Amino acid sequence: MNLSLNEMSDEEIRGQFALPEDIAYFNCAYLSPMLKSAIEAGDVSGNVRARPWRITEENFYAEIELARRLFAQLIGTPQDNIALIPAASYGLAIACRNTRLTPQRCRIILVENEHPSNYLQWREKVRSEGGELTVVPLSALRDSSEALCDAIDDRTAVVSLSPCHWIDGTLIDLKAVAVAARAAGAGLVVDGTQSIGVLPFDFDDIRPDYLIVAGYKWLLGPYSVGFLAAPPERHHGTPLEFSKYNCGTEPAPYRWSSGRLAYPEGGRRGARRYDVGENANFCLMPMVNCGLAWVNATKSDLSERLGGITDTLVGILAEHDILPLAAGNHAPHLLGFQADGRRQRLIDAFRNHKICISVYGDIVRFSPHVYNTKSDLDALAAAVHGALGATGDS
Ligand SMILES: Cc1ncc(COP(=O)(O)O)c(C=O)c1O
Repeated sequence: MNLSLNEMSDEEIRGQFALPEDIAYFNCAYLSPMLKSAIEAGDVSGNVRARPWRITEENFYAEIELARRLFAQLIGTPQDNIALIPAASYGLAIACRNTRLTPQRCRIILVENEHPSNYLQWREKVRSEGGELTVVPLSALRDSSEALCDAIDDRTAVVSLSPCHWIDGTLIDLKAVAVAARAAGAGLVVDGTQSIGVLPFDFDDIRPDYLIVAGYKWLLGPYSVGFLAAPPERHHGTPLEFSKYNCGTEPAPYRWSSGRLAYPEGGRRGARRYDVGENANFCLMPMVNCGLAWVNATKSDLSERLGGITDTLVGILAEHDILPLAAGNHAPHLLGFQADGRRQRLIDAFRNHKICISVYGDIVRFSPHVYNTKSDLDALAAAVHGALGATGDS
């Protein structure tokens, strides 16, 4: 499949998603809307589950290997480097379990207000094994990632971060951080949940120890399926759990020896050793694959199309002197605004105009995508100008 977004009208792009006309959905960083094709695939796969007598071994492997291949294609790495996980926290827990802390290398570097699925793993590790968390202030990173690179030293065990901050969209110079981490002999864990599927990412160039992505945002997938990518040097670690889905060889019929069950030895090939139990997930996987196929097919035109939408959005708020945090360095798909004393007026207006956004503390977060049409932006402009008064008198 190759879909050129630039050859499609706004309405054609939006028409591929299950989005009612009166909803202006600027909240993909929370939960993406679903592709209509994925909903249809889910109807079919629900029916597969409804007839267990027809389920074959093929149902257990075909869709998950396709998912691995499509995700691998998206980040530019071989399929053997991909594991299936149910949540970002699960993948981050694998990274955490396989990171060794020693008295000489005991620092874990994070960014301020990191997502709980990332932060909590490391906090628990430090509590149980010793070591220290170093949290780099977000405000120091809004212009450049220098403060993060400077924090990495030869006592650093690992840097665990997102290429784009989940609350205000601050972009991290991942290449610079990767180079600094390598030079210091530290590990690198990337939570790509808010970036993979919308920002370009070259796995073999950045070469993190682990890349973790939850699938229900920019991969346009259902809830509860995500991916972990690990390079070959990380294919000998310990999974979070051991099951017939990640141990032994594939396919895995039960084997018997002298009347006893012969349990499999060793982990599955490549990163499959980290796969979650019941990875076959034949109800959800066809939906996951529709999202991944769409993201792969549209990735070359995505940033141009999205850039225009985001520029208009920023322009509407700028008319009232409300500028994005990380103004010169925010992601094209995720932006946070503070709006000070006018915040509640804006939030109320958004609710009344069916404009979907998220609010974290004093930050209002917008996360547009290519399905946002001119009429969504007109609705946004009407809500903002209505709440704050005509331009200039807000
Ligand atoms: C940066 C980031 N990581 C991870 C997640 C989701 O984590 P999990 O799949 O563990 O619920 C989110 C959800 O908002 C996120 O923004």
